[in-house]
Amino acid sequence: MDANAAYGNGAITSLYQRIQHLYSFLPYYLSPTGASLPTWHYYFEVTRRCNLRCKMCQYITWLKTTPAKTQSEGELSTEEWLDVIDQTNRFSLITFTGGEVFVRKDFMTLLERACSKRRVHFISNATMLNEDRARQCVELAPKRFGGRGFNFLGTSIDGTREVHDVIRAQKGAFDKSIRGVSMLAKFRQESGKKAPLIHVNTVIQDENLDCLSQMPAIVAEAGGDVLNLLTEMRSFDDLTVGHVDPGKFSKEDIAQKRIDRRRLHAALNDTFAEAKRHGIEVRMPRMPYEEVLNHYDQGYDLRKFQCRSIWFTLYVGSKGGVYPCFIRKVGNVREKRLKEIWNGPELREFRKRRRQGGFALCRGCCELEYDAKAARRLDAAPAPSKPEDLASAARSKTEVSRPMDAG
Ligand SMILES: C[S@@+](CC[C@H](N)C(=O)[O-])C[C@H]1O[C@@H](n2cnc3c(N)ncnc32)[C@H](O)[C@@H]1O
Ligand code: SF4
Ligand code: SF4
Repeated sequence: MDANAAYGNGAITSLYQRIQHLYSFLPYYLSPTGASLPTWHYYFEVTRRCNLRCKMCQYITWLKTTPAKTQSEGELSTEEWLDVIDQTNRFSLITFTGGEVFVRKDFMTLLERACSKRRVHFISNATMLNEDRARQCVELAPKRFGGRGFNFLGTSIDGTREVHDVIRAQKGAFDKSIRGVSMLAKFRQESGKKAPLIHVNTVIQDENLDCLSQMPAIVAEAGGDVLNLLTEMRSFDDLTVGHVDPGKFSKEDIAQKRIDRRRLHAALNDTFAEAKRHGIEVRMPRMPYEEVLNHYDQGYDLRKFQCRSIWFTLYVGSKGGVYPCFIRKVGNVREKRLKEIWNGPELREFRKRRRQGGFALCRGCCELEYDAKAARRLDAAPAPSKPEDLASAARSKTEVSRPMDAG
């Protein structure tokens, strides 16, 4: 099977990506001040605590080195999160993520409030998605897909039972997650609703390459709709990320994982073929197939990518920190309203700076978007005219690295 031919997102994924692309088009190209249209997508990391310790987790260093007491200290209360939810714009989409959202006992209260106002998505390892919660989730789904309520579930399965349990560092994790997802799929079917759409996230890694092609069957069996293959990001291994200038990091500071190109190609090829056989949509990063192989090989050229996300997305961390993305903190909800921060000086400056080129920390980020025109220009003039990322251009090693808390 030709991997390039098989490569392409399904209708709903494409529609959302097109909306985001159009929404950010004018400000991205025409805003000299870095100001943008109102926030369209919010990510709320309601806690960074988690019941698992997955080997590849982007937060594994934080989870393993931060004492339990410090992990929860200063987290926004239920009332504070409800207020944050109430601050969101009318036509926006809210994604809840973590850590693990169900570690918070009040998560269903937050979900309920968000669903009464906006379109909602949450990402969970689903090990704590019990029958009551699964039922409630389907009740919170809109009658018509795309309406107010719970529209998307993102859940994570990283391989077959044995492989998943090793990666997720917990025996029985696979069975728990599959049970939660299957229950939700069953209740959805009984309700006659199309939502929530179930996306199964799988991080491509050396450990699951040999069983990657079995993922479409696993997704189909659990009643899922989309297999979302993610490239591995290692930028958050350094706990100062988000709290110091992102330009200070270079490619060498990030321990990006390598995978043999031919092995990866073969595994992806087989996965696409199996997905077709099982009628499962495979969602891939927004870049040509070759660049996915490059990511795990010598790395891609960041000048060939844009980041539109920071022009329509806002993140709020577990302790109220506000970020265009987690590599740069620009405020705290305990000090300012979201609307004030959105087009405030720090965020506008960050957008303008990011528009000029990527940071080394952007490697593996699922928000990267391939810029075919920029790529053609670069390929026509192969001699490097400037450093590949902003870190190499203006590297400051003067700041002292120190452990940071999740903001
Ligand atoms: C940080 S987790 C939070 C939600 C939940 N705990 C879970 O595992 O689904 C969000 C998503 O990021 C993925 N992820 C974890 N580590 C990653 C990494 N190093 N690179 C890319 N994605 C990663 C997870 O598999 C999951 O699908
Ligand atoms: S379940 Fe999610 S947040 Fe928790 S350790 Fe695994 S990937 Fe990280
Ligand atoms: S591409 Fe870079 S700037 Fe954009 S969201 Fe990802 S890490 Fe942040």
